[in-house]
Amino acid sequence: MAFPENFMTELTERNDIVSVVSEYVQLNRRGGANMFGLCPFHSEKTPSFSVSPDRQIYHCFGCGKGGGVVNFVMEIENISFPEAVEKLAKRAGMAMPEQSEDRESKKRARMYEINKTAARFFYEQLSTPAGAIARDYMDRRQIGPVTAKNFGIGFAPNTWDAMIKALKEKGYSDFEMYDAGLVKRGKNGGFYDAFRNRLMFPVIDVRGNVIGFSGRILDDGEPKYLNSPETLVFNKSRNLFALNLAKKSKSGYIILSEGNIDVVSLHQAGFDSAVASLGTSLTQEQARIISRYTNQVIIAYDNDSAGIKASQRAIGILEKLDLKVKVLRMSGAKDPDEYIKTKGADAFRNLLEGSENQVDYRLRSIKDKYDLSVDEYRVAFLKEATELVASLPGAPERQVYAKRVAELASVNGDVIAEEAERLHKRLVSKAYKGEIKKSARPENLNQPTEKSFRYENPASAVAEEGIIRLLYLEPELFVQALPEPSEFTSPVLAHIYTEVCALLGEHRAVNTSALAPVLSSQEMSLLVSIIQKPEILSDSRRTLADYIDRIRSEKERTGTKPDFAAIMRSKQNTAYEKARK
Ligand code: UTP
Ligand code: MN
Repeated sequence: MAFPENFMTELTERNDIVSVVSEYVQLNRRGGANMFGLCPFHSEKTPSFSVSPDRQIYHCFGCGKGGGVVNFVMEIENISFPEAVEKLAKRAGMAMPEQSEDRESKKRARMYEINKTAARFFYEQLSTPAGAIARDYMDRRQIGPVTAKNFGIGFAPNTWDAMIKALKEKGYSDFEMYDAGLVKRGKNGGFYDAFRNRLMFPVIDVRGNVIGFSGRILDDGEPKYLNSPETLVFNKSRNLFALNLAKKSKSGYIILSEGNIDVVSLHQAGFDSAVASLGTSLTQEQARIISRYTNQVIIAYDNDSAGIKASQRAIGILEKLDLKVKVLRMSGAKDPDEYIKTKGADAFRNLLEGSENQVDYRLRSIKDKYDLSVDEYRVAFLKEATELVASLPGAPERQVYAKRVAELASVNGDVIAEEAERLHKRLVSKAYKGEIKKSARPENLNQPTEKSFRYENPASAVAEEGIIRLLYLEPELFVQALPEPSEFTSPVLAHIYTEVCALLGEHRAVNTSALAPVLSSQEMSLLVSIIQKPEILSDSRRTLADYIDRIRSEKERTGTKPDFAAIMRSKQNTAYEKARK
């Protein structure tokens, strides 16, 4: 969605990046032009997240993320470009331009409204005479009134049309309710309440919108939970139950559990950072969202074989995002809810504090695979467990776990420790040789953080980056003879270059907010890292000409790469040509 340029200019002027970022990150001056703080996008102990007040950009030297003020809000709040613009406009007290209210965002807004109205209806039903059955159920599950209010828990009465009637009175149509997944349609075409005789848990996104519902049956009927279908605003794999509450927690970690009831119980017992993944196994998207709010996750899944399996999967997904992962081991209870009810909140807190790190957890999982009373299996266990120990980076750690492995299999600890060290050295030397080989190749210098952007021809890419940087910093250079995007060897740089040229061609300012709608967040991060690199601007025309020469001589040296050039020409020349006119 495009916003008028002058609106965007005012928006960015009135939302200074330093003050916006400071709402989330503590920034300090280090003497230079930039300010530094701990990166909110990856976990770190020394600040490598920089904000440039002059250029109005942020850039993390650790994880490579970067962009302007709009990108920052998009990333940190996990919202889209138009949503970030809206948020910043509100912050600056600016009215949104008319045209941005397109049909889809109006429909979304209406759906949030209808969901909220439905949530209110369900909540009110709790205190009606008919709601007695739900109140009894909550008593049995020990869900108190304050908790019910915090979560907005409600009751869907056991009728076919109570909700429909209530919502109609407020002006919503059957079809609107249908689109929101609140009603179903019978064979004769009539509509009826989708949720009946259920305890209703609204699913609320991090911005506080009610996006859907999860309804638990009050007896042992089927299905146990009924969830809203996918709608314009509800996507199960991209949301987490109770994240709207957990994101405010000061605990420093997120507790990931399976069930809604577990989450409710946990919050009620004071563990206010619990979330659940809406009945699906943890998705990549959910993990990514979690990583925006914390760098440590404690998995508290059900204590059954499905839960253990799901934990293993979740560990893999979470660790890929550099999150510290611990797994809770609840003996004597099937889930966190039961654990808290039978052993109390303090016992659960002890469990949290002592929760296993993933080495313990992995070791235990390996052990559980083998019957250690059988020699043959003991050998297999030792082999697998020793490999795990060997893969640990710290020597003390290896020592501790070698001992643990030896104890488990009742063998001599020194033997295991020696074997683990031997394997470890082999792993290290293998990795080391790989590293040396890699760094000896020039193309490995200066590669983008994003792996898929890897430069095939680094010598040319350096020059391609240079051209982008010069045009960004000195737009007047656009009148010079410039190469075609198809001459670039890097597809991503060609794309960024095309977009920069398109703006310049329309005599528009080149900045992060103008580029945010057309570049992906990874492309934006790359662009920011490019413009941060030093550049000789004293004779920029000359520098530009040198870069162009470099690209062309590289092309001669390596021979043309017709494939890529052809693709780029067909894809991007039209935009580029238009821009150059
Ligand atoms: P559980 O069966 O463990 O439910 O399913 P629970 O929330 O812990 O409830 P209690 O304590 O047994 O009463 C875990 C989650 O899986 C999803 C729900 O989100 C539930 O909270 N689920 C479960 C469904 O979506 N549909 C179902 O039929 C069952
Ligand atoms: Mn459960």
